[in-house]
Amino acid sequence: MTAPAPLADGERPPAAGALDVERLRASFPILAREVHGHRLVYLDNAASAQRPEVVIDAVNDCYRTYYANAHRGVHALSEQSTDAYEAARGKVARFIGAPDSHEVVFTRGTTESLNLVAQSYGRPLLAPGDEVLLTEMEHHSNIVPWQLVCEQTGARVRAAPITDDGELDLEAFAGMLNERTRVVAVTHVSNALGTVNDIPAVVELTRARSDAAVVVDGAQAVPHMTVDVAALGCDFYAFSGHKMYGPGGIGVLWGRRELLTAMPPYHGGGAMITRVTLERSEYAAPPQRFEAGTPAIAPAIGLGVAVEFLESIGLDRIERHEQELLSHTVEVLNDLPWVRVLGQGTEGASPRAAVVSLVIDGAHPHDVATILDEQGVAIRAGHHCAQPLMQRLGVPATVRASFGLYNTHEEVGLLVSSLHEVRRIFG
Ligand code: ALA
Repeated sequence: MTAPAPLADGERPPAAGALDVERLRASFPILAREVHGHRLVYLDNAASAQRPEVVIDAVNDCYRTYYANAHRGVHALSEQSTDAYEAARGKVARFIGAPDSHEVVFTRGTTESLNLVAQSYGRPLLAPGDEVLLTEMEHHSNIVPWQLVCEQTGARVRAAPITDDGELDLEAFAGMLNERTRVVAVTHVSNALGTVNDIPAVVELTRARSDAAVVVDGAQAVPHMTVDVAALGCDFYAFSGHKMYGPGGIGVLWGRRELLTAMPPYHGGGAMITRVTLERSEYAAPPQRFEAGTPAIAPAIGLGVAVEFLESIGLDRIERHEQELLSHTVEVLNDLPWVRVLGQGTEGASPRAAVVSLVIDGAHPHDVATILDEQGVAIRAGHHCAQPLMQRLGVPATVRASFGLYNTHEEVGLLVSSLHEVRRIFG
């Protein structure tokens, strides 16, 4: 990544450890645009974040100067693409504390990663009477793949409850674990509420009461906090490039090597075999076994650059900045009697990532989103692909503001003033 520009005359350096957000914003070209005549206030980062110039340039550079298929040619371009693609895998492995880069499988995104685990790990294992234990706060991508594999095998899905404060009820979770639990599938951070689940505690309880593998949906965690899969102690960890300032169409499944090595392929095709006859095939070792077909080469390379971009800033500093934005937002919204903030917990609650879901008396979330959009404020309204969670909360939908490293306190103010505009329109 390019070094930050020197301070101009009279410009004050940022406080020690604080993010120089204005300078960071300048590396995201899209943030300079206007929407409906207003400056863009992009608060839909949980759906998809924006990309810095270094990531856009890396993808561009790949296509402009050295692109060819990876793992398939001996010509110069193919070797260069293969090296860059594999280097990206190494960067991802280092970033998440994976002991071995062979444990990093490139997929299309979190959804494909979770489907891969359900089909390649779950399907051969599950039998009638077995249980897959989820939580009520899962995204559909950590529910539906398990429902599918349970339909195929006769196993059943159960879901641990959450508290009224939007936290996983660990005691109830522990009570639902038993010798028939084969898989525990839990999100690291709720995409709708921002709740940060205590994964080491989930793993400890699981190990004490069952032989289940712990599968973690890390899509909403990886861009916002340091993730170390070895320290978390889980068995699989899934995430997407597009939420961590990387390209779309690329994601990651990390899995313990011994588990990946014992799993059959998910997709069949080129580059995932060692030998094929018309009768049968022998499969390559992981990760190639799970990467059938031409991979998303340039996006993977761009993801590697996104990793370096995040590392150059520091996840601890990003987390601190986003936590300040979160506290600011919740504090202001809690003072508005016509706004109900959902699942932010109370004093002493477990941590939250910078995601704020709210409902406004008398205004449908989609109408709120439209009014905010007219003022350049991009948020998401709807069920956030978490319909069971919405049912648990007793709402059909919410308005969700989700922050990223480039958001500012001024933008929190613009969000709040546009909510006042909603209030004015709806009375
Ligand atoms: N999973 C993404 C979200 O929460 C799309 O918006």
